Amino acid sequence: MPDDRLSPDRILELAGEAVQQIESCSDPAELDSFRVKYLGKKGELTLLLKSLGTLDPADRPKVGQAVNKAKKQVEKSVAEARERIEQEAAERARAEQKVDITLPGRRRMRGSLHPLTQILEEIVSIWETMGFVWEDGPEVETDWYNFKALNFPEDHPARDMQQTFFVDGSSRRTDVLLRTHTSPVQIRVMERQKPPVRMLCPGWVYRYDAIDPTHYPMFSQVEGLLVDKDVTFGDLKGMLNEFLHKLFGPETKTRFRPSFFPFTEPSVEVDISCFACGGEGVLAGRNCRVCQGSGWKEILGAGMVDPALYENTGYDPESVSGFAFGMGIERIAMFRYAVDDIRLFFEGDLRFLRQF
Ligand code: FA5
Repeated sequence: MPDDRLSPDRILELAGEAVQQIESCSDPAELDSFRVKYLGKKGELTLLLKSLGTLDPADRPKVGQAVNKAKKQVEKSVAEARERIEQEAAERARAEQKVDITLPGRRRMRGSLHPLTQILEEIVSIWETMGFVWEDGPEVETDWYNFKALNFPEDHPARDMQQTFFVDGSSRRTDVLLRTHTSPVQIRVMERQKPPVRMLCPGWVYRYDAIDPTHYPMFSQVEGLLVDKDVTFGDLKGMLNEFLHKLFGPETKTRFRPSFFPFTEPSVEVDISCFACGGEGVLAGRNCRVCQGSGWKEILGAGMVDPALYENTGYDPESVSGFAFGMGIERIAMFRYAVDDIRLFFEGDLRFLRQF
């Protein structure tokens, strides 16, 4: 064999040297220069392959095998070195990334239910345990549902109890208004459902009232209606007592005062003993701020359903009886949470809302 470079032993030795050089490479450019040196177009192993033709045909297979084996070894070591160099670079980049572990973590803001929603959910869940189901009615009503069917005759002074927003629409109807209370839902439910009825209808209501610490032109009420056979005033008292004890605590005292609503007869206002001063009217030697020193707080209106409503909705006044009640949700929330201004519920000030 005339050319020493073409002896199989020399070829494998060359491959060994190449592998050593490649393994000691630490950057991609250096690695590439070795790849070109051995495997490039004019690389040492490429040239050896090309010069196989100059050999004696009998020697060619052995030498050819040796060159191919050497090429494979070098290719493999280039691939391995490339992977190793990339990994080392990634590790260096990770280590260089500066993490300030003293920074406070990023806190996710958690929302919560509005205090009016919280108290409404409490009220609803108590009545649900007594079999009452949630019903809805429209906030834009007609005079019939908001007043006439509820036994408020036209031009009767009872209408002055609820200052009303009338809707001045293009229809030239003068009897469309924003409901002033949730009581119209009593009529709508009795119209569409045969007795017995046990329903609860929370919702927004609107009155032309000037804004002050206890009044707002838009507020919410929860109304309840129970109609069945032989329902008595004793049932009304028992269920309202149960409700008020669950909402305000079992030690709460209740007081039923005669009142007037056109749609109930007899009618009552229901007061509860003030939870802040325990009904004493005095707290820490001063007039209690929550009940203004009276020891009582008016909480809701109620009464036995007036038979006129049964006539207006197709029920037989001789065979059914029932009771209804209604309360302002903001006033209940104000009392429960000792909030002294109704406006706080509507301003959306997070400093106030975060307290609930
Ligand atoms: C009524 O609205 C009757 N429909 C309640 C009722 C239903 C009685 C069923 C009998 C049977 P009244 O006008 O008193 O009643 O209003 C009820 C509650 O709404 C009041 O006790 C008060 O808590 C609340 N309220 C009235 N006006 C306002 C206002 N401008 N802002 C906030 N709350 C108000």
